[in-house]
Amino acid sequence: MNWKAEAKGKSFYFLITLTLCVSTTATEVSNYFDTQGPSFSLEPPSRIEFLNTVGNTVSCIAHGNPVPIVQWLDKENNPITSISKVQHIFTNGSLHFPPFAAEEFRQDVHWAIYRCSASNSVGTIISRDVVVKAVVYQHYEPEVQNPGGFIGSNVLIKCNIPSFVKEYVTVTSWLQEPNFNIYPSLEGDGKNHMLPTGELLLYNITRDDSQKIYRCRTHHKLTQDSKVSSNVGKIQLTEMRELVPPIMNEKKMSLLARVGDPLVLACVAYANPKPTYRWHITRSSNEESMQHMIATGRAKIKDGTLIISAITKSDDGVFYCTVTNSEGSETLEVKLSVSSPLSAILQPRVQTVNLGQTADLICSTSGFPKQQVLWFKDGKTLRSGARVRHLSTEHIRITSIVKEDKGMYQCILKNDLESSQCSAELRLGEVAPQLLYKFIEQTMQPGPSVSLKCSASGNPTPKIVWHLDGFPLPNNDRLMIGQYVTTFGDVISHVNISAVKSEDGGEYECKATSRAGAVTHSARLNIYGMPYIRHMPKISAVAGKVFTLKCPVAGYPIENVFIEKDGIRLPSNM
Ligand SMILES: *[C@@H]1O[C@H](CO)[C@@H](O)[C@H](O)[C@H]1NC(C)=O
Ligand SMILES: *[C@@H]1O[C@H](CO)[C@@H](O)[C@H](O)[C@H]1NC(C)=O
Ligand SMILES: *[C@@H]1O[C@H](CO)[C@@H](O)[C@H](O)[C@H]1NC(C)=O
Repeated sequence: MNWKAEAKGKSFYFLITLTLCVSTTATEVSNYFDTQGPSFSLEPPSRIEFLNTVGNTVSCIAHGNPVPIVQWLDKENNPITSISKVQHIFTNGSLHFPPFAAEEFRQDVHWAIYRCSASNSVGTIISRDVVVKAVVYQHYEPEVQNPGGFIGSNVLIKCNIPSFVKEYVTVTSWLQEPNFNIYPSLEGDGKNHMLPTGELLLYNITRDDSQKIYRCRTHHKLTQDSKVSSNVGKIQLTEMRELVPPIMNEKKMSLLARVGDPLVLACVAYANPKPTYRWHITRSSNEESMQHMIATGRAKIKDGTLIISAITKSDDGVFYCTVTNSEGSETLEVKLSVSSPLSAILQPRVQTVNLGQTADLICSTSGFPKQQVLWFKDGKTLRSGARVRHLSTEHIRITSIVKEDKGMYQCILKNDLESSQCSAELRLGEVAPQLLYKFIEQTMQPGPSVSLKCSASGNPTPKIVWHLDGFPLPNNDRLMIGQYVTTFGDVISHVNISAVKSEDGGEYECKATSRAGAVTHSARLNIYGMPYIRHMPKISAVAGKVFTLKCPVAGYPIENVFIEKDGIRLPSNM
């Protein structure tokens, strides 16, 4: 999307990329009983700068089901806590830095890297790195330089900003006294040209121009203060007729720019007679690529000034301007580092994989320079091995999926300027319960203790319930049920009966159930003794359906069991 912003003659294009790691929204959740891994609805930015006298609050909001818990971590991924009057974590997950006095500055808090994390039962994700920089306010004065020049030459006037605030201060306009304002533009008005980088370039100066006086205006992005230089600048006209080979104050420059930004590079030398300017891209005079840029209209050279309306990735590199007159030549070298916002998209966002199968995760990245792609699983560095392999920096393959592989995966893309992350959820396919271990039929004398064991696997992990002759196990203090889940996600359940009595005999059943299905196993426990019928609770039957009733009989051996209804022995008919 392109927007054209115009303000007082200032006209630049801003390029806004709308490719984001868009989080799955609530509407994609088919069933709201389903769990959903955490995802950031508001992820903090890569950089937070604020004035010590003002303080700041950084928000981090995540959604998911269950609702995730948000925490703030330090550079080493350890959770941070509130520090009275210095750092406070609000209950809504925002990190607050109260205003502080200059002498209370703490490097570990006020000039540090943070991350926020969001966790729920599905897994954990972490945010991009958040560089926090609290700036202690210092007064500054912009200062205009007085450059020298010959009549007919071009002159560059600079507005000097002290280095301790340079990061936060931009030159917004120039004032030619008493009331002529000059704003940054791609080409200027033929005489006055304020460059997007803040300098004022005056073309083809005359004796008149040397009478004019200039001030610069600046803006501090943290204080929002605007200033006008208290000193004034003036061109120092060189009247001497002597011949001077081109002289440049600065022969090497480095510039950082984003794709889509305008680029205006002035090439100005102090020289007599008036020099010629030649822009080229390689030091050897192969000018093809520059000619191509000009021929396609992407670049323009005007009185020695190179103008590119929108920088592209291919402009990353070095530009040279050679200035020549009869006395000699000089070359300016400008190193341009082009960046574009980083973005990562991890796909598939949610995938369901069955145990033993293979899963692929692909991180599509855009933006540059790209320095690192890091992989995380549930907030920790992803450990690769025989099963978890990097097919490339942007492609992970997990083979022979096991239960521990489920959770949240992330790829984090980083360079010196920023980082960007995207997360994806790996779910395990449902597996119906299977019994791994079953107890067997036993016949024994009363007295010793007995342990019946069943264990089951499946996804989700099943639950095991026990029955005796179709009824819940009787309540007594000799009978204990224990159940636990192993690290592999298998469930193990025991029924332990101490000092067995003949009345404990019967058909025991273990039933493993989950939403993926159920499986049962039953076997008799026979204890020698007199026949015994356990109390039968009230049972209900559904009219028209088959009704089965097992007589809860104990004692061993039993010769004969019959059932009576209202005093009549069944079956009374077929
Ligand atoms: C969190 O709470 C603090 C203090 O109540 C508030 O200033 C901040 O705006 C809240 N953040 C969000 C994202 O609601
Ligand atoms: C420079 O200015 C002088 C005087 O105004 C004018 O005659 C001359 O054409 C200008 N030269 C260029 C290259 O614009
Ligand atoms: C039941 O007995 C088994 C085998 O002796 C033992 O491993 C288990 O811990 C016991 N469970 C309970 C709940 O007592």
